[in-house]
Amino acid sequence: SVVEEKVYRSPIICILGHVDTGKTSLLDKIRHTNVQGGEARGITQQIGASFIPVENIKEQTKAFAEKVKMEFKLPGLLLIDTPGHESFNNLRSRGSGLCDFAILVIDIMHGLEAQTIESINLLRMRKTPFIVALNKVDRIYDWKPCVNTEFKEAIKLQSRAAAQEFDSKVKETIAALAGQELNAELYWRNKDIKNYVSLVPTSAHTGEGISDLMLVVMQLMQKRMIEKVVFTEQLQCTLLEVKVIEGYGTTIDVILVNGSLNEGDKIVVSGFNGPIETTIRSLLTPPPLRESRIKSQYIQLKSIRAAMGVKIVAPGLEKAVPGTSLYVVNDDDDIEKIKADAKKEVDNVLNDIDTSGVGVSVQASTLGSLEAFLSFLKKIKVPVGNVAIGPVHKKNIMSAAIMKDKDPKYAILLAFDVKIEESAQQTANDMKITIMSEDTIYLFEQRLKDHFGAIK
Ligand code: GTP
Ligand code: NA
Ligand code: MG
Repeated sequence: SVVEEKVYRSPIICILGHVDTGKTSLLDKIRHTNVQGGEARGITQQIGASFIPVENIKEQTKAFAEKVKMEFKLPGLLLIDTPGHESFNNLRSRGSGLCDFAILVIDIMHGLEAQTIESINLLRMRKTPFIVALNKVDRIYDWKPCVNTEFKEAIKLQSRAAAQEFDSKVKETIAALAGQELNAELYWRNKDIKNYVSLVPTSAHTGEGISDLMLVVMQLMQKRMIEKVVFTEQLQCTLLEVKVIEGYGTTIDVILVNGSLNEGDKIVVSGFNGPIETTIRSLLTPPPLRESRIKSQYIQLKSIRAAMGVKIVAPGLEKAVPGTSLYVVNDDDDIEKIKADAKKEVDNVLNDIDTSGVGVSVQASTLGSLEAFLSFLKKIKVPVGNVAIGPVHKKNIMSAAIMKDKDPKYAILLAFDVKIEESAQQTANDMKITIMSEDTIYLFEQRLKDHFGAIK
C-alpha cells in the first residue's frame, strides 16, 4: 500500500520579551542582516516576518547537527519579531496569537522583567509552547566567545570565575521562572521537554548559541508539534500592516499561516469604511533571509504557499485594517457572508477605542500603533478626543481645533510616527494648534507632562 507523504509548512515562531533584551539583534544574527541599526532609536515598533529556509538552518548548524543526527523535515522557520516596549501589548498579543511556537528572550544579566512576565502570561493564555533564549551571555565578565561550538562545550573553555557567574545567573533565572510557576532547565540537561522549558544561552553579538537555538527549535517542532504544521489548503491569513510603497501604491503585508494565494485571486479584507473587495494584482516577497519590513528588491510570484510573509498589491487597499483576516473568494463562496465576517472583525477592534468627550487628538500610522498609543495615553491619564490613522491632513487640524472651545489645553495633535502635510502644518500655525510629533511613544511622555504641567 502507498502511504501518502504529509506536506509540512514552516512553523510560525514569535520572538517575545522585555524591551532591549536583544530580540531584533538575535534575528539579525540569524539572518546576517542589520535591522536593529536602522530602527528609530533601536526600538521595534512593528511586527516583521523573516523566512529562514531550511538550507540556511542546515548550514548554520552543520558544526554539530551531525552529532545530534538531526533529520530536517520542515521547509524552514517563519520568525516574527515583536516590540518589547510596554505600550505594544497589542502587537505582542497579535504576534503571539499567530504563532505555533515562541522564543522568549531574557537578558541573562537582568533576569525576569515586566514584559517578560507579560509575555509568559500571553503564551500561557494561548497555550503556546516556547523556549527561552538567555541572551547577552557575552556580558558575563571575562567571557570568551566560542562560536560554532555546542554551548555546553563553550562553558568548559571559560575561566572559573566566568563559568561561576554564568552558573549563578542561570540559577537565578530558573528560580525566578519557578516563581512564575514554570519549570526550566538548560536545554542540554532538559530530559523532560514536556514539562520543562528549555533555556538556550545566546549572544546576538558574538553569535554563540545561535546554532543551538535553531537546532532546539527544529527538534522541538519536529518531535512534539509536527502535526500542528501539516500544510492544508484551508486559507488562514492575517493582515499585519498597510503601507504605501513607491511604484506599487497602497500594499498590505500579510502572514499566510495556511493555504495558498495566487495572483488574480479575488479577496475580501476588512476596511475602516466597510469590507473591501478587490483582486490580487501582484504577490511580492523580499528575497529569502530579508525581512518584509525592509525596503529591498521584491521578488514577484505567481502563487505562494504557507507559511510565508507576503506583500499584496491590489487596488483599493487604502482603508484596510491591520490585525484582521484576509479572505479569498472562490466561485462557490457566498461573498456577502464573507463580507459580514470581515465587518464583524473590524467592529470588534474599533469598539475598543473610546473617543467620546474632550481630549487630545491622536494620529498614528497603523491601527496597531494607534491601539498601543491609546493604551499608553490611558496609563498616563491623558484623555483622547479624536483619533485618526495615516498622515496629518488639514482636516485633522480642524478636528483638533474644535477642542479650543471645549477645553483649550486639549487643542493639540499628537502625531505618532506619521507624516505632517505642509498644508496641515500651515493651518496649525495659523490656528495656533500645537502638533507634537515623535517617532517613539515614550518621547511623548515628558512633552505631555511639560504641556499639561505648564497649563495647569
Ligand atoms: P525592542 O524591540 O525595543 O523591544 O528591543 P530588542 O529586544 O529587539 O533589543 P535590540 O535587538 O534592539 O537590542 C537592544 C540593545 O542590546 C542593543 O544595543 C543591542 O546591540 C544590545 N544587544 C542585543 N543582543 C546583545 C547581546 O547578545 N550581547 C550584548 N552585549 N548586547 C546585545
Ligand atoms: Na531595542
Ligand atoms: Mg526589537
